[in-house]
Amino acid sequence: MIQKLSYSLLFCVFLLLNHHCATATLNYADALEKSILFFEAQRSGQLPPNQRVTWRGNSGLSDGSSNQVDLVGGYYDAGDNVKFGLPMAFTTTMLAWSVIEFGNMMSGQLDNARAAVRWGSDYLLKAATATPDSLYVQVADPNQDHRCWERPEDMDTPRNVYRVTAQNPGSDVAAETAAALAAASIVFKDSDSAYSAKLLQAATKVFDFANRYRGSYSDSLNSVVCPFYCSYSGYHDELLWGASWLHHASENTSYMSYIQSNGHTLGAEDDDYSFSWDDKRVGTKVLLSKEFLQNRIDALQVYKVHSDNYICSLVPGSNGFQSHYTPGGLLFKGSDSNLQYVTSTTFLLLTYAKYLTTNGGSISCGSTTVPAKDLISLAKKQVDYILGQNPAGTSYMVGFGNQYPLHVHHRGSSLPALRDHPGRISCNDGFQYLYSGSPNPNLLVGAIVGGPDSGDGFSDDRNNHRQTEPATYINAPFVGALAFFAGNPNIWH
Ligand SMILES: *[C@@H]1O[C@H](CO)[C@@H](O)[C@H](O)[C@H]1NC(C)=O
Repeated sequence: MIQKLSYSLLFCVFLLLNHHCATATLNYADALEKSILFFEAQRSGQLPPNQRVTWRGNSGLSDGSSNQVDLVGGYYDAGDNVKFGLPMAFTTTMLAWSVIEFGNMMSGQLDNARAAVRWGSDYLLKAATATPDSLYVQVADPNQDHRCWERPEDMDTPRNVYRVTAQNPGSDVAAETAAALAAASIVFKDSDSAYSAKLLQAATKVFDFANRYRGSYSDSLNSVVCPFYCSYSGYHDELLWGASWLHHASENTSYMSYIQSNGHTLGAEDDDYSFSWDDKRVGTKVLLSKEFLQNRIDALQVYKVHSDNYICSLVPGSNGFQSHYTPGGLLFKGSDSNLQYVTSTTFLLLTYAKYLTTNGGSISCGSTTVPAKDLISLAKKQVDYILGQNPAGTSYMVGFGNQYPLHVHHRGSSLPALRDHPGRISCNDGFQYLYSGSPNPNLLVGAIVGGPDSGDGFSDDRNNHRQTEPATYINAPFVGALAFFAGNPNIWH
């Protein structure tokens, strides 16, 4: 009791020193709701009657028609109008993982979170099943899309369709798609078992395709996926990640055999610390640690050991620490969309803490032990920083708190909505809005932007895409993290 009391006192003193004591209580439930709402603004396709982001309209309604397939729907990745398969699949996996781990803490937001998963999985299901032995992985050529600043509702750039096949393989994008479909099948297991079974069946097939025809989509489709979502980490990480999700989603023992026979070759022992749309290694380790902690399968201990190494790299003062934090306390991995790494790391901290707490277990950093509560406090610090408790005093979630970015690098948000400006705004005419100093006319509520630099500095400039562009994969893991704190508002007391 006394220990707990001094803990929260210390916290308040810390906040006083930073002049933020007044904002000590953040409304995590509000942030959670907004983080999910953002996905409605990224929707492509025919919008449903219950669409809440009403400044958006239908778009991309003939996507796929050039190849006589239906590729309508899915998400735009960020501030442009391209549908990129690799980040969309990763986004869907992380939304699904958020629901799987923390859905019971979402209270009123669970249905909205499931709808966000489904908007992704519906599209991925089409992309995976439209043509046998191939997977559609992208709609639109980003080189052409980026030459325009257009609303998705009146874009007129070519909607070229790209796919991977046996001859032009893409094991990275295919295995990530398998992971997304498998994770989504877990989300819908009870609420819609027929849909869940369909997702699992498609996941099984697309994983088999990924594994059988090996290669990176960066080689097969280089000019349209690089440098945008080039698979820098190759495809080994996705194969192991996809197999791990299929193991979780199915009762088929062949995936555990696959993990045990191929884990070593596919990166089980690599210590790489950037969990992102590109690199799945540390996510796989945390996911398989659960299996180790629950069932004590000796062959999986390696994943727990390397998850521990990852945690040690993050916790200041522990043996193995090797991360950078800004003076204000934000994890810093790089100046281009840094918050994507912060949200993904935060999610893994909380998920690992949950696995350890549920199954009994602790983290070894050399001779010292890190308790699960330290992971939660580090995660909380990152979440609170993003929501406004930082030296700049600004929230990096649009529409949350009193101060947040107003010049977000996002076509739909920065151009006037159709209802305010029904006439089309052409490719080149749109650029005046990119370069204008006025705030975005449509508030992109819930979007988390790229975020501040290594010195906690942030320039709210629409053309500063490294800092002001949002992305679905920044938000997706944050949905789970926010659910955790919304469900445990008194974690400090
Ligand atoms: C398990 O998965 C393997 C690989 O996809 C497949 O060949 C096998 O038929 C599956 N077994 C069952 C019982 O579904």
